[in-house]
Amino acid sequence: MAKKPASLFVCQNCQAQYPKWTGRCEQCGEWNSLEEETRTATPSKAVSGRKGAGLKTTRLDGRATPPARLDTNMAELNRVLGSGLVPGSVVLVGGDPGIGKSTLMLQMTCALARAGHNVLYVSGEEAIDQIRLRAQRLELDRDPKALDQLELAASINVNDITTTLEERRTLQVVVIDSIQTMWLEGVASAPGSVSQVRSCAFELIRLAKTLGFVLILIGHVTKEGALAGPRVLEHMVDAVLYFEGDRGHQFRILRAAKNRFGATDEIGVFAMTDTGLREVPNPSALFLAERHGNIAGSAVFAGLEGTRPILLEVQVLLSAKSGDGAARRAVLGWDSSRLSMVLAVLEARCGLKLGSMDVHLNVTGGLKVTEPAADLAVAAALISAATGQPTAPDEAYFGEIGLSGEIRQVSQTGIRLKEIAKLGFRQAVIPRHVGTANARPKAPQSLTVAETGHLSDLVR
Ligand code: TYD
Ligand code: MG
Repeated sequence: MAKKPASLFVCQNCQAQYPKWTGRCEQCGEWNSLEEETRTATPSKAVSGRKGAGLKTTRLDGRATPPARLDTNMAELNRVLGSGLVPGSVVLVGGDPGIGKSTLMLQMTCALARAGHNVLYVSGEEAIDQIRLRAQRLELDRDPKALDQLELAASINVNDITTTLEERRTLQVVVIDSIQTMWLEGVASAPGSVSQVRSCAFELIRLAKTLGFVLILIGHVTKEGALAGPRVLEHMVDAVLYFEGDRGHQFRILRAAKNRFGATDEIGVFAMTDTGLREVPNPSALFLAERHGNIAGSAVFAGLEGTRPILLEVQVLLSAKSGDGAARRAVLGWDSSRLSMVLAVLEARCGLKLGSMDVHLNVTGGLKVTEPAADLAVAAALISAATGQPTAPDEAYFGEIGLSGEIRQVSQTGIRLKEIAKLGFRQAVIPRHVGTANARPKAPQSLTVAETGHLSDLVR
């Protein structure tokens, strides 16, 4: 009698496995996250007794050729990818539903097609007519060259897709929108489940590696960020790009979370318009465009994203605490524990008591800042809000704050100073440079630099 394939219940949140269904995953505590998956038992090679072939090893000092790249013709995208797409590589593009992944990828495929590359866009989410309508709206259907090289297909069947790809060896770039809609025959669970997502991706990746086309997988990130989404694929692909941004804002940031062929801290900035995503080569000007000088509680921060300096406005609003409980700390675009630290240092080292105030902090533009270098700008905004005195409208800040109130040096002072001067600011408040080993890089002529050693100097 043939053995029945083993049935298994897998938590879609943490991938813990159970022989029986239960309402709640014991490992991560998630309710209703278990799904049945069938496993066909494969005999282990080690057990089957087959002797493996010997590996052919090689020396370290051979010739290495850098990978050829397909230019996407979109500077912001190239920057994040590391100057283009590498043939045979697999890129995962993740992001919230509705953030603009399909739009970005359609624009990219058109740009690639325009440059003469053969591109296939497979959608499991939209019908061909919907994609056509989108292309019309984005005015992508005007270019005869793009129309010749770009092909569309609507399918969710990975078996059909792989057969097509095997027959069409001239394809150079294949986009799958999205991996969560894909379905592989023989895997007994619904599209979007961990095992379907993983098996579909595995099939497609295997083919990309053997045939040498660039595979781009689009994946939705769900609210919790983990559910059967791009996270289960991160280790299988060469690059992971997250497309993020605030729904209410027009800015979209493409960020590399992993990249085998480039740096991971680069970002690409786009603005959403009626006619699609527009690249933003100079984000600082855009982020500061709506700034009103002369309002207390605002300070300009000279930050760094990858190799690119970006100026942002930090806004703080203080209000008397409502009710008896702890004061509110509402933070958008920055780390709230970092804010608590700056508040504590201001109180303990500079005597500025804000414990009875609700603090609202906002980094404008919808960008999430992770650098400790923003400490000084945050402190300046807090001091300005507390004293009611606006910071000078032509002044920018950067520097990390230590627990004793000292202001510490941060990386890339020169690049930050240049950007500050480029945007017409005349003053910069930065950490003090001590010792000869780390002398301060020369500042542009138009800029007056105030080196500050301790936070209490700033309060004064
Ligand atoms: P879409 O690309 O479909 O998002 P995703 O694939 O991530 O779910 O974009 C969502 C909606 O936003 C869609 O109706 C088109 C619209 N949109 C614009 O109008 N302009 C733009 O620049 C972008 C990116 C999207
Ligand atoms: Mg989409």
